[in-house]
Amino acid sequence: MFHFEATNLFCEELLLADLAAEYGTPLFVYSKAKLVNEFRAVREAFSAVDPVICYSVKANGNLSLLKVLSEAGCNFDVVSGGELFRVQQAGGDAAKVCFAGVGKTDDEIRFALKVGILMFNIESEPELDAISAVAGEMGVVAPVALRLNPDIDAKTHAKTTTGKKGNKFGVDIERGGELADKVLADPHLELRGIHMHLGSPINTTEPYEKAAIKAVDVVRELRDKGHQTNWINLGGGFGLDYQQGQAPPYSDYADVIVPRVQEAECRLALEPGRCIVGNAGVLVSRVIFVKHEGGKTFVIQDGAMTELVRPAMYDSFHAIWPVETDVPLPKDFLAEIDGCSPVDVVGPVCESGDYLAKSRNLPPVERGDLLCTFSAGAYGMVMSSNYNARGRAAEVLVDGDTHRLIRRRETWDDLIAAELID
Ligand code: LLP
Repeated sequence: MFHFEATNLFCEELLLADLAAEYGTPLFVYSKAKLVNEFRAVREAFSAVDPVICYSVKANGNLSLLKVLSEAGCNFDVVSGGELFRVQQAGGDAAKVCFAGVGKTDDEIRFALKVGILMFNIESEPELDAISAVAGEMGVVAPVALRLNPDIDAKTHAKTTTGKKGNKFGVDIERGGELADKVLADPHLELRGIHMHLGSPINTTEPYEKAAIKAVDVVRELRDKGHQTNWINLGGGFGLDYQQGQAPPYSDYADVIVPRVQEAECRLALEPGRCIVGNAGVLVSRVIFVKHEGGKTFVIQDGAMTELVRPAMYDSFHAIWPVETDVPLPKDFLAEIDGCSPVDVVGPVCESGDYLAKSRNLPPVERGDLLCTFSAGAYGMVMSSNYNARGRAAEVLVDGDTHRLIRRRETWDDLIAAELID
């Protein structure tokens, strides 16, 4: 969906350079076709068990993107009342929302019960008590799944691993039976299933296989005790090709998950975020200066940690390439590339940690040139900030040869709009 024709980079049928000229930079550009195709590809891979795909709103919660996904038949996973509100505003189906998160407040629980979601993923005993109390007050029964921590090492970044003992998420798997009994004895709670999320991104299938096996064991145990546990939710975390060939195809994940779900005769819910929206979005930025100091070349451009914090926060790799160049897009960005030399791609923010790439091979660029940072659709805009009093970037959605502004650029007035001064 993002491709070069001759020397120019396109999103679907539109030139990124034209979009940058119209809306300015930094600019997030999304491909509608890529977004919908990835959702359909995940669903298709698991079609044998008719899965409920709950796109993880935290990856990118733009209303127009949620609406596109909802219209394609996608459901949603949320981790806050704010995300649930977004789903509602986008016209999503609240009855199929899964609500995770370790610190749901009473107000958020009340809101979700009023809206009527598919299930809360209960992450602790105190949360179980709180959901029961709020449901009791409201005179309703809350549908819940137990989020179990299966103690599986998904070998992902330390800051995004969630399924290892000692992480803050879920309840230890050994305590599952005890908490399930507590749910069963509670007239305000209904146990619909179990939930696990191992981390993100996970580029191998083994952790899912282990989790699915453990999930089936737990479901069996619970059924033996008389629980009606009909859902297995294995969370999100599927890999994304930040470089080509990193992530296994969805069918590989399905191969290790589907047979177990069938064996348990359960419904399957999944919460993918990154793999659906990640490569549907790029960040287009403009070079402000090229500076040579300390034996290095710094390409200072207007895309910063305020737009894409992942390199600063997780040392993540994002492919970066000029929007107009006659050097062909490489397969391996980390290898030596003819016509390229290593530069640091940095932003204007006053932190040495403000970079999009370090020692990265790039064709020569100069002041005014446009750069494209790939795989910026997931955990880009949602993690953006106003640090250094920078307004958030604009977002544009491309559909074939048409495009639409889906979030306007923030102004300086937006920056101070919530502040009170006497
Ligand atoms: N479900 C639960 C319960 C989660 O905690 C997450 C992600 C997902 C689903 C979606 O995972 P995905 O399919 O998008 O990998 N900011 C980090 C990622 C944090 C992920 C947090 N939880 C990053 O930029 O890599």
